[in-house]
Amino acid sequence: GGSGGSGLKDTYTVASDTSFVPFEFKENGEYVGFDIDLINAIADEVGFEIKLETTNFDGIIPGLQTGSFDIALAGITITDERKKTVDFSDPYYDAGLRIGVSVDNKDINSIEDLKGKTVATRLGSTSADYIKKNIEGAEASQFEQLDQVYLAVENGSADAVLYDSPNVAYYIQTKGEDSLKMVGELYQAEQYGIAFAKGQDELVSKVNEALATLKENGKYDEIYEKWFGE
Ligand code: ARG
Repeated sequence: GGSGGSGLKDTYTVASDTSFVPFEFKENGEYVGFDIDLINAIADEVGFEIKLETTNFDGIIPGLQTGSFDIALAGITITDERKKTVDFSDPYYDAGLRIGVSVDNKDINSIEDLKGKTVATRLGSTSADYIKKNIEGAEASQFEQLDQVYLAVENGSADAVLYDSPNVAYYIQTKGEDSLKMVGELYQAEQYGIAFAKGQDELVSKVNEALATLKENGKYDEIYEKWFGE
């Protein structure tokens, strides 16, 4: 359906990450996940088509800035720093940072225990900043791809992973049950937002309206339940 005289486009290029379970990941050759379902529901609600493009996380915000992408969903934390270069929707998901260590690790039980350690995370993520700013003497070992992050802990080249709580929890539940465990608490609460190339105010407000509608009519809950329900 057309955009009925508004300034909206018929199709928007939407960037997402190649792998960030359970928000976006490839299954049987197709991208699936919470972010994918959410943007499809929003696009239906507002009335636009999406062209999905996936790239490593650290390429997403630069791609919005250069105009390669219009919109991005990738579990992107809303920060003041990022607001200088992109716009954000209202928050759509509450998360935070958590620690994962090898199942037989007895020494690391909290953030204090990460001092001077090698901590694996994803390139360009809020956890990489957190490690550099808040954990004395720790080395942030940053990887381009998700599997490399967990593999680093599994093969002992990193002492721990510090990454987004839903990702650490989901990875351990689905793949890492025998090798990894989560320890400590939620460090640094964060909220995810849909990011936009600047200069699309009408689109941002339409997306916010759609998000509110989906939260009211139960569709958001359905999607949440699908990916995070027991
Ligand atoms: N929430 C963190 C951030 O915004 C990490 C996001 C990672 N997302 C991803 N798709 N790899 O920096």
